[in-house]
Amino acid sequence: MRIAVIGGDGTGPEVVAEGLKVLKAVSQKVGVDYETSQFDVSGDRYLAAGGDPNEASIPVVSDEEIDKLREYDAIYLGAVGHPDIAPGILEKGLLLHLRFALDQYVNLRPVTLYPGVATPLAGKGPQDIDFVVVRENTEGLYGGMGGFQYKGTPQEVATQIMCNTRMGVERAIRYAFELCRRRDDKKLCTLVGKTNVLTYAHDLWYRTFMEIGREYGDIKKDYNHVDACCMWFVKNPEYYDTIVVCNMFGDIITDLGAMIQGGMGVAAGGNINPQGVSMFEPIGGSAPKYTGKNVINPIAAISALAMLLRETGNNTRDVKLIDAGDRVESAVRAVTPKMKSQSAGRMGYSTTQVGDMVAAAVTETN
Ligand code: IPM
Ligand code: MN
Repeated sequence: MRIAVIGGDGTGPEVVAEGLKVLKAVSQKVGVDYETSQFDVSGDRYLAAGGDPNEASIPVVSDEEIDKLREYDAIYLGAVGHPDIAPGILEKGLLLHLRFALDQYVNLRPVTLYPGVATPLAGKGPQDIDFVVVRENTEGLYGGMGGFQYKGTPQEVATQIMCNTRMGVERAIRYAFELCRRRDDKKLCTLVGKTNVLTYAHDLWYRTFMEIGREYGDIKKDYNHVDACCMWFVKNPEYYDTIVVCNMFGDIITDLGAMIQGGMGVAAGGNINPQGVSMFEPIGGSAPKYTGKNVINPIAAISALAMLLRETGNNTRDVKLIDAGDRVESAVRAVTPKMKSQSAGRMGYSTTQVGDMVAAAVTETN
């Protein structure tokens, strides 16, 4: 297996280093051959190459680099975000650009409360918080359609179009039904949207969901408005199994999901193209203020590595990779109860110590 590694900015390289430490341990354990290549793509490089901090002036990642990335089995990403670069430049130039260029049409975000991890939800534990969000990842409000008219005048008009295609909606929904079947949990797939207001865009989602759903007779079809879904995340998270949702609402509800699973130190996600190259990342940002202090939590990045192994294994039907991914997740579950907190600087251990503990847990099990 060949993995392209983009450490990125801030604490990204530190957490990715811990993930790679665990990868080394698990590959020795189960006999997986792998090779990694580091890609120097970051805000620092953008600035060093003369990029304008206030406006995108040069590519953050070049077309040649994207073509190189296509040759890998998976991409392992740390974080993007730089305090000296205006919002939007790195997000659009790197993260969104890669998602679109590599057609990573699903953003898979498990919401799992690991043992020993504190949730802000009173009376809820790991048995209650265990579901997965399938966020559409290439269209909707993220598509970039829209524009200004009369900019800077009192008559200014700004539009941002929520563009949904039947093909894009259908492939995300199919992915969710297939995943729900594999999870073998409650066999409940919930579409989250806002059909009462987005009477065109989410009507397409609803019709497609119900139509495709007929092919999945073993799965219960369920619908929640997005505002109600936020309420249920807090009140009754145990209700959910698999959620499928448009890009923007998926972005928002998965930050809420990250909080109920213990915060940004824990939440991981995968940008998935089942027919191409997928990219796995901790959901949290580059955390500039913690950079270089050896205090950031690497658990999210290590969980992203577990997803990378499992999803790549699922895709190539490689049972060793799936086993490796499962082992990393079990090791994470063995380590979280020993940590004092999942917050940076309060874990009771340093970044590298947490990485060592997970690597040791991987090595020690049968
Ligand atoms: C995420 C992030 C990105 C998104 C930003 C950084 C563009 O919030 O991965 O959830 O909105 O998708
Ligand atoms: Mn987000």
